[in-house]
Amino acid sequence: MATRRALVLSSLLLLGGCFQQSGTNISKLLPSDYQASYQVARICRLSVAHNSNYMVVYANTLAESDYLGGNYPLPQGSTIVTAETDRPDCMGVTGYTLMFKDVLGYNAAAADWHWQKLDAQREVLQDGRVQECIDCHASCGPYDYTCAH
Ligand code: HEC
Repeated sequence: MATRRALVLSSLLLLGGCFQQSGTNISKLLPSDYQASYQVARICRLSVAHNSNYMVVYANTLAESDYLGGNYPLPQGSTIVTAETDRPDCMGVTGYTLMFKDVLGYNAAAADWHWQKLDAQREVLQDGRVQECIDCHASCGPYDYTCAH
């Protein structure tokens, strides 16, 4: 009986673990209210480099003035995000990319940027020191790995 109870208990725990995991991969780097709390840094435009999506670029308060003013490098804590869609009016966002200036030493070789690609629900698809993001953004020039000016 005790074994049976232990079994039931452990399967419940396992199930609980599974339920907990689903939906917990929401990005902590992009708040759900970003449209209200971030500034639009660039209005809707086609981006050939990002799979020919249309994108609006947003910057958080920390990044905003330096990013728009072209003062590089951007400060620690800066977040810049693209809201992307295949629609030329940029409505109906299908996903995001973002770059977050992480703690000093996070990735010293590439200016400590932390990269993420998210789906429409802000679930993380790619995360961290993502080499393909770094490689292409490094080729944009001396703008602290940013490309949209
Ligand atoms: C093939 C080149 C290329 C790749 C790969 C790429 N990007 Fe970009 N990205 C650009 C360019 C160019 C822009 C500027 C928008 C435009 O005009 O296309 C941009 C813009 C951005 C911006 C807006 C901020 C800025 O000024 O750069 C973010 C955030 C971003 N990309 C994140 C990412 C992430 C995250 C990845 C990887 C998952 C990634 N990018 C992969 C070329 C690239």
